[in-house]
Amino acid sequence: MNAQSSRGHTVFKLNMVREGGSDNLSTTSEVCFADLAGRENEKTTQVTGERFVELSFINKSLLYLSGCIQSLGQQTHRRRLQTDHGSGTPKSKGVDMSKFRNSKLTLLLSNALSGNSRTSMIGTLSPAAAHFEESHNTLRFASTVKTIKVQAKAARAVDKDYRQLSFADAEDRSKPGPETYNAVKWALEMGYRLVDTAALYRNEKSVGEAIRDSGLSREDVWITTKLWDSDHGYEATLKACQNSLHQLGLSYIDLYLIHSPNTGKLVETWDAMIELQRRGVVRSIGVSNFGVPHLEALRSSGRQLPVVNQIEMHPMVYQERKPVLEFCAAHGIKITAYGSMFSGQQEQLERKEVAQVLAAHPSKTPAQVLLRWGLQMDFQVIPKSVRRERLEENMNLMDFELTPGEMESLSAMRGALHEYWNPLKSKVDLGRTDRGTAES
Ligand SMILES: NC(=O)c1ccc[n+]([C@@H]2O[C@H](COP(=O)([O-])OP(=O)(O)OC[C@H]3O[C@@H](n4cnc5c(N)ncnc54)[C@H](OP(=O)(O)O)[C@@H]3O)[C@@H](O)[C@H]2O)c1
Repeated sequence: MNAQSSRGHTVFKLNMVREGGSDNLSTTSEVCFADLAGRENEKTTQVTGERFVELSFINKSLLYLSGCIQSLGQQTHRRRLQTDHGSGTPKSKGVDMSKFRNSKLTLLLSNALSGNSRTSMIGTLSPAAAHFEESHNTLRFASTVKTIKVQAKAARAVDKDYRQLSFADAEDRSKPGPETYNAVKWALEMGYRLVDTAALYRNEKSVGEAIRDSGLSREDVWITTKLWDSDHGYEATLKACQNSLHQLGLSYIDLYLIHSPNTGKLVETWDAMIELQRRGVVRSIGVSNFGVPHLEALRSSGRQLPVVNQIEMHPMVYQERKPVLEFCAAHGIKITAYGSMFSGQQEQLERKEVAQVLAAHPSKTPAQVLLRWGLQMDFQVIPKSVRRERLEENMNLMDFELTPGEMESLSAMRGALHEYWNPLKSKVDLGRTDRGTAES
């Protein structure tokens, strides 16, 4: 083989975000091209020095890749056996995701190998008899790869429509029962199509009832709900999701979020979210109140990233949260803003920065100005109200536009609502990282 040229793999990744379109959804996808250096026999190749070190690394990474491929092949085999023996929905054990962390190569390729992908491999061989061993190894590797069955499934991502409605903590806002039921029903009648709820709010049952009674088809309504902190952990997450589905009376959730990183076990919990998406009971998965270190923990563990990070986001916290906004923008994670209307706090809504903008838009209200700011910042806004007239008011945002100067003066606001927790700063705890299923 060539004694001079350097040995290396090339991996090229292309991340694409599609926005708009007739369905008004934003979807992300990744194309990964990998040109792998072939395995060479360390004894016969006769390279030395730097080239030899490269060759050893190449062979080691290929060994790890082979381990991942074998693990995937075994999973496909197990699933086939379960199906052939009539056990209904295959209960696959999943692939040991920790294997993907053994080398940079497998970490980089984990999405392409993870099941929710379409993957092709081309093996190139040397015709020379002297290279028979290498050619034979490549063919054996290719035949193992052929046994793996992967399936690409589009995950629905984020509705960019502004007509969204959410419900806050049952303690003091949208209480389970008639308050939630009526608000959701009115909102759906008016044209809202997104309901944001959470296990914590204890109003999922009323949300589900109102949706069923609305007469709208399930596909026309977007339901986001959240996994509460006490349910972190792999098995607990799977169970909590079943409970939310039961409460909502639905067969699937459009977007399931980890409510906060507070109780840790981030990768372990996220692996269960990936598994839920794989099973089809959850269409998209995301997080809430995650700061850069929490998102980085998922990324560096080789996991697919959330499609959404729902955080407190309004002009007063905009400057201090720029790092998390920038991270999310760089990785195609949509920001859902909560607290957009300063949580309804009258004294904050009357602040001079808002009043100045209102002077130029006399027919508008502080809530509308703040929601419009959120939309123009390209955040998904989820204004909450249990009052019919305010639901109407919060929808009327498209007949005016804030100027760049108005946007800037609002973005420079400072202050705190003292209304919300700030788990963005909570410590990073990965939990177990070997529970993952490679099918996402
Ligand atoms: N992920 C999280 O950790 C987290 C945390 C907090 C909130 N959230 C989500 O985000 C949603 C919105 O957040 P939020 O409710 O805390 O804050 P928000 O949307 O800024 O404010 C809602 C408050 O403002 C009042 N309001 C509604 N429309 C108004 C208007 N046009 N003018 C004046 N006041 C108005 C509401 O009262 P009425 O209902 O009486 O109209 C309610 O008290 C929640 O429903 C929840 O789903 C998520």
